[in-house]
Amino acid sequence: MSNNQAAPAANATNTKHVVTVDTAGGRYPIHIGAGRLTHLAESLPADTTAVVIVTNPTVFALFGALVKKALSQLTVPISVVELPDGEAHKDLTTLNLIFDHMLGKQLDRRAVIVALGGGVIGDMAGFAASVYMRGIRFVQVPTTLLAQVDSSVGGKTAVNHPLGKNMIGAFYQPIAVEIDTNVLTSLPDREISAGLAEVVKYGLIMDGDFFKWCEDNAQGLRARDPALLTQAIRQSCEFKAEVVSQDEREGGLRAILNLGHTFGHAIEAGMGYGQWLHGEAVGCGMVLAAALSEKVCDLPSTSVTRVKNVVHAIGCPTAAPALNGFEQWMTLMRGDKKTQAGEIKFVLMPKIGQVIVRSAPADAVQAVLKAHCDATDTKTA
Ligand code: NAD
Ligand code: GLY
Repeated sequence: MSNNQAAPAANATNTKHVVTVDTAGGRYPIHIGAGRLTHLAESLPADTTAVVIVTNPTVFALFGALVKKALSQLTVPISVVELPDGEAHKDLTTLNLIFDHMLGKQLDRRAVIVALGGGVIGDMAGFAASVYMRGIRFVQVPTTLLAQVDSSVGGKTAVNHPLGKNMIGAFYQPIAVEIDTNVLTSLPDREISAGLAEVVKYGLIMDGDFFKWCEDNAQGLRARDPALLTQAIRQSCEFKAEVVSQDEREGGLRAILNLGHTFGHAIEAGMGYGQWLHGEAVGCGMVLAAALSEKVCDLPSTSVTRVKNVVHAIGCPTAAPALNGFEQWMTLMRGDKKTQAGEIKFVLMPKIGQVIVRSAPADAVQAVLKAHCDATDTKTA
């Protein structure tokens, strides 16, 4: 796939769409618009004593100067922590770099973290904010499509552990989310596809008409039509805000956001973090979840085909890796956070636009994996 590395567009406007997230852990706005980076200072509280931009070298090279300039109107010290880029670095060792920096600068409780990057940066910066001096404020500034439509919203923060994805973390809400749609111009094609998997997910779990819209517009979305992408981001943020505002800490409803994730997290961990993009694993996981839904809750086979076709159309894989066989798959899936008393839970679809969370017989899971795994794509291949 080609890397579409055009320079970020400079046309800044102050037109924004606002979505509100309202949880016990905080009520905050998501601002969506072209050029929002230049208005970042609007989201920083008046009593801010210092700003720490947590980012990575890739993102900082693209947007660092713009963001620093936008924040300079606050007239407080601004410093930058650059974490190594990539899912493979989403761990406690890397997290500690943020604490080293902040403690080294003696930053107080009114310092604010600005998470500038994709979901990896957002999850780590948010987790750091949740525990630095027992909790300081942070602003999410997502720069990937996946982070704009999903990870920056809702307050899930975490790092990975070798034994499981996102296993060490906290629910901790940002004070604002600033989504600049211009930043997507520099995103590699593969990352656009990965983000679109999470967009399709909202249609499958909440709204059959939106799923149809994704089917009809898959090519335009993949080609980054700005109006379509903006519509997808707005709609996704509205869906996610609706869910997390009802169930911030995943006591029940929020689990529906995990469609495709039981399989997807196993792919990510089993292949080694960073081999498959999170969104790719979720896209493929949704195909497997649809196939399992046909077996255990009567999803029509025509719907399974629609799911597979749309995942393919947005550019995500539809065949899963075999890993080291069924036992490894089951071990990894048993490590999922939805597992209860050793029983793996899947988000399944009786119909498109409607989901249930339930267990499934092992032989049905095995049959689905047998039918959808690419035997040549093993962990050791
Ligand atoms: P990522 O953060 O690794 O970003 C992908 C790549 O794009 C990185 O190399 C990054 O440097 C680069 N990049 C970022 N913005 C760019 C831009 N504008 N132009 C060019 N390159 C850019 O990956 P991601 O897909 O954004 O996030 C995946 C992570 O999000 C996973 O760790 C996943 O677990 C997490 N996640 C969290 C939640 C949540 O609710 N907290 C939800 C979904 C996913
Ligand atoms: N991405 C799943 C969640 O936020 O709950």
